[in-house]
Amino acid sequence: MKNRLQTLKNEILEKINEIKSEADLKEIELKYFSRKGEINQIMHSLKDLDLELRKEFGVLANQTKKELEEAFTKAKNSILNNNDGEILDVTLPGVNMKRGHLHPITIIQKEVEDLFSSLGFSIISGPELESDYFNFTALNIPPFHPARDMQDTFYVTSAKDDNQEELDLVMRTHTSPVQIRAMRKFGAPLKAIIPGRCFRNEATDARHEHTFYQFEGLMVGEDINFANLKSLLEIVGKKIFGPNTKLRMRPKFYPFVEPGNNGEYTCFLCSGKGCKVCKQTGWLEIVGAGLIHPNVLRAGGIDPEKYSGLAFGFGLTRLAMLKYGVNDVRLFNSGDLKFLQQF
Ligand code: PHE
Repeated sequence: MKNRLQTLKNEILEKINEIKSEADLKEIELKYFSRKGEINQIMHSLKDLDLELRKEFGVLANQTKKELEEAFTKAKNSILNNNDGEILDVTLPGVNMKRGHLHPITIIQKEVEDLFSSLGFSIISGPELESDYFNFTALNIPPFHPARDMQDTFYVTSAKDDNQEELDLVMRTHTSPVQIRAMRKFGAPLKAIIPGRCFRNEATDARHEHTFYQFEGLMVGEDINFANLKSLLEIVGKKIFGPNTKLRMRPKFYPFVEPGNNGEYTCFLCSGKGCKVCKQTGWLEIVGAGLIHPNVLRAGGIDPEKYSGLAFGFGLTRLAMLKYGVNDVRLFNSGDLKFLQQF
């Protein structure tokens, strides 16, 4: 009896030492510690002994049982709590975590921000859900004016402002409303760029997307003129498309600038000879620009008799498409890693 007890004890301790998983735990629990397990069987068989012997072994058996149970509980806790039921095998190869990186549009945005910060411009932002007033009216596009049709707009059900007046809201169709916000907040002189997301009610295809990025540039001061605008746009073109890039500016109507124009750069791919990217014209149309209309300066709280200003708006998404040779604008918002990992 004594021997049987000792052998069982050694056997169980050895097994406990070897426990590696929850499955091992269960197996041992069932085999030795359950109601019909081997320990209880021995305890049971005590009743067949003589009284003297029963007393002697009873004490020993109880003590052994207690010791074994403690050892088992300890092993159980360490498996369940520390290792979540698994043994940590430090020799296994690690899991290869893929690192993310910046989105191609963000990369270009940062490049532009670096350039303009180095020229002393501040970088500011404004709301994407904008009032009809800032998006259009303050930019010299009154309600019902046909110029509103230039930008297909997501109108949002009107809300109430602080004075409980009805406020017509739109998803901003360009970054230009932040011109007004910036002028009102900072006054003149002012130099700022405004990168940001814009929205238009477009039927989506390879060249049109309802959500896209622009960056606006704005400079207000005492003698800001067209030459300043042209030289600034030349610097941007050279920075983004390379030092040999040329700029040409052609008149175009934008209600918030006068004169308004369209800036085009020589195609970086064919250097102006004509190719697929520039549709054989040699030029890439990429920026709207002009001198800020007096009505817009006034809406921004700035006296047009004293100050003048320049403004321009780049299609950031379009820049990224041209620079990286992306032929479908929808890829940028697709979340497709096969596309994004190429940058
Ligand atoms: N906001 C114009 C657009 O989205 C671009 C622009 C900005 C034109 C500033 C002139 C001056 O089309």
